[in-house]
Amino acid sequence: MRYILGIDVGTSGTKTVLFNEMGETISSVTIGYKIIQPQVGWAEQNPEDWWQATKSGIINVINKSKVNSKDIKSIGLTGQMHGLVLLSSKGETLRNAIIWCDQRTDNECKELTNQFGLKKLIHITGNPAMTGFTLSKLMWIKRNEPDVYRKIGKLLLPKDYIRYKLTGVFATEVSDASGTQMLDINSRKWSNELLDELDISKDILPPVYESTYVTGTLKSNVAKELGLNIDTSVVGGAGDQAAAAIGNGIYKEGIISTSIGTSGVVFAATNKPVLDKLGRVHTLCHAVPGMWNVMGVTQSAGLSLKWFKENFCNDVVDKAAKTNKNVYDLLSDMASHSKPGANGIIYLPYLMGERSPHLNPKAKGIFFGFTYANTKDDFIRSVLEGVSFSLKNCLDIMLNMNIKLEEIRVCGGGAESIIWKQILSDIFEYPLFTLRTTEGPALGAAILAGVGAEIYKSIEDACDSILHCQDKITPNPLNYSVYSKAYVKYNHMYPAIKDFF
Ligand code: XUL
Repeated sequence: MRYILGIDVGTSGTKTVLFNEMGETISSVTIGYKIIQPQVGWAEQNPEDWWQATKSGIINVINKSKVNSKDIKSIGLTGQMHGLVLLSSKGETLRNAIIWCDQRTDNECKELTNQFGLKKLIHITGNPAMTGFTLSKLMWIKRNEPDVYRKIGKLLLPKDYIRYKLTGVFATEVSDASGTQMLDINSRKWSNELLDELDISKDILPPVYESTYVTGTLKSNVAKELGLNIDTSVVGGAGDQAAAAIGNGIYKEGIISTSIGTSGVVFAATNKPVLDKLGRVHTLCHAVPGMWNVMGVTQSAGLSLKWFKENFCNDVVDKAAKTNKNVYDLLSDMASHSKPGANGIIYLPYLMGERSPHLNPKAKGIFFGFTYANTKDDFIRSVLEGVSFSLKNCLDIMLNMNIKLEEIRVCGGGAESIIWKQILSDIFEYPLFTLRTTEGPALGAAILAGVGAEIYKSIEDACDSILHCQDKITPNPLNYSVYSKAYVKYNHMYPAIKDFF
């Protein structure tokens, strides 16, 4: 039996999963680290934390599994997208990475839009200038940290930094590269036009490959430290959303996936780049060669519930610890004691600004409509509903762009809550399918790695043989009218108050 490692360099931790070639999880380890917030709205991480977490993750999954590490043939990398990792010409990090949810680059985005115009930016990169994306972060460094800017030898994305540490090779692949806003998504190559006009040297960018390409093998000292074969291949991989989509079987038009992780995403694969003129959803290169994707992003999906738990639910956290239960199961339970419509509370989940559909880094969260009669159960339910409304905003835009919809699959941590899935299905007024596996991005990365190592013939073949549907949530028509009324209110609320942000 051959084995594959899928490594997901996430925001709250790095998850390492060892799969056998049937796509079954043999062992899995997640090692956490912190987000550094030097100012409100800023978010940074130390790339060294990712590397330490990756190394311990690999050593731990191998030890736990008892698999002969010589049978591990390939490594697939995935991770948080858009992060800016800057290395000196000697390959040392120049500063902490500025990560995807950092919102400091509003001015740089305005300047990029003035310089290129919205239409041209969307035509070349698939997206308007975005605070989350890498390019505006690089422009911020140029202006605010010129000494760092001068010393840049290479610019990498988070998972590609791990590739560099594993293999010594600088490389990226199309799905993550298109999230930098420096790739021409049409040709799937770095955009000379954009780089020239911004005076960015192409030398600082790594070569871009398709996501199944074998970018290198392990450095000998790394192979020795981790107990792996030196010829273990490290394959392109994908940004976490594209990888999660592959792990959810989204390799052709028609199946849309929605994930509720830290952020929430609605994702569709397309045979050509399909653009939203207003840029409310992203168009990026998919990890399937020759395909693109459209995706809407809710910045604070699972993050909204995590924030609520951390700030208002010490009692629930204690109860979970005392009864040895999962705190999120208890929160879901509480939400089920409220009613559809959360007894009048409407939540706008803009804790970290918002991407789809508002593209406003200054947007803020709102609880609307509570009275003395409301309880914590209602607030929790309103969080689940507000995030689901935001995902419905993404879906609506995509359907207006004539994206094909035949099936919706739901994944991510939030999909482990039956009540959250039911709310989402009722609000979408559409059935939702879940797959038997819940490994998401790590599995997607492993599938890409398996294709690169020729364990699978193609992404399609791997998905068809590995992925199986586990259950189907059917929407409850009795809830349609309460949710559709609440959705109308939800949609009116942001335009009514946006000037106060
Ligand atoms: C996608 C995005 C997030 C991050 C972190 O555009 O910003 O999904 O990749 O998960």
